[in-house]
Amino acid sequence: MSERHGVTNRPTRPAPDPMRGLVGGLMRARWALRSARSWLRVRYVWLKPRPGDIYIATAAKAGTTWMQQIVFQLIHEGRGEFEHILQVSPFLEQLGTKPRAEQELDGLPSPRIFKTHLSRGLLRPPANSRVIYVTRAANDTLVSYYHHVCRAHGAHLDFDQFFQREMKNRGWSSHLRSWWPNRRAPNVLHVRYEDLVTDRERELRRVATFLALPLPPERLPDILEKTSFEYMKRHNARFAPPMPGGLSAEGFIREGKVGSGRDALDAGQQALLEKTLAPLFRELGITGNEV
Ligand code: A3P
Repeated sequence: MSERHGVTNRPTRPAPDPMRGLVGGLMRARWALRSARSWLRVRYVWLKPRPGDIYIATAAKAGTTWMQQIVFQLIHEGRGEFEHILQVSPFLEQLGTKPRAEQELDGLPSPRIFKTHLSRGLLRPPANSRVIYVTRAANDTLVSYYHHVCRAHGAHLDFDQFFQREMKNRGWSSHLRSWWPNRRAPNVLHVRYEDLVTDRERELRRVATFLALPLPPERLPDILEKTSFEYMKRHNARFAPPMPGGLSAEGFIREGKVGSGRDALDAGQQALLEKTLAPLFRELGITGNEV
């Protein structure tokens, strides 16, 4: 077994079992049907869109929670408090299974802030809503997701197996394909995770301008403090999603760096990732580090 920057690589893989594959496929299809039904109820019955609703639209691990905190603190001028961020900014896709979700949605003050990983086609954000679309480099996102899945399993998974599976899953790619062409729509603001890391104050100002929120100079230090990596890590429990089976969500605010993917992927994995994404980048006209 070898270790590369916190990811675990085992040299061998067990042979795939075809029956397990079939059962897994059927279970995934059932799960997809259930999710579709519950999403339709949330979107078209319970949500009752309001003008100015804010959707934070991201592929998983792109800095969603960070943007939720940024928007919430901008609205509350750095004085925003909560027990858990999902109480003030719910995860739309998870509401379908919550018994009092409709009341929760009705009870949120405007502007409501929603987290979503859905494609644009499924979300169908109304033209009078605002969307903050956050992107993060594929390799960094992948490594962050690997650690997330390890936490959800309560175990160190084999990174290469995880990586090969993700190359087939294409969740990151389909999110990009759906949102990227719309990133300059009048009600969409595109923010890069890398830019947030490099110059958070500048990006906060962009978000505030987009949302037409005042940013009084005397409130800026508190907003910067509450959206810092150190503050959010110190209060990890307020940001970490509930883990299955009571597993620890310790380390959800994990590393917060640009470049962890480059360090963790070996040359073969990085080459496969680039080869897998090349046709999509060509299709979308992405030539450099724009994501
Ligand atoms: P890492 O695992 O690379 O550290 P999401 O909220 O979409 O699940 O994204 C989680 C990622 O955002 C994690 O990345 C987490 O550490 C990072 N993150 C959260 N808050 C951050 C902050 N204030 N500064 C930098 N990164 C942050």
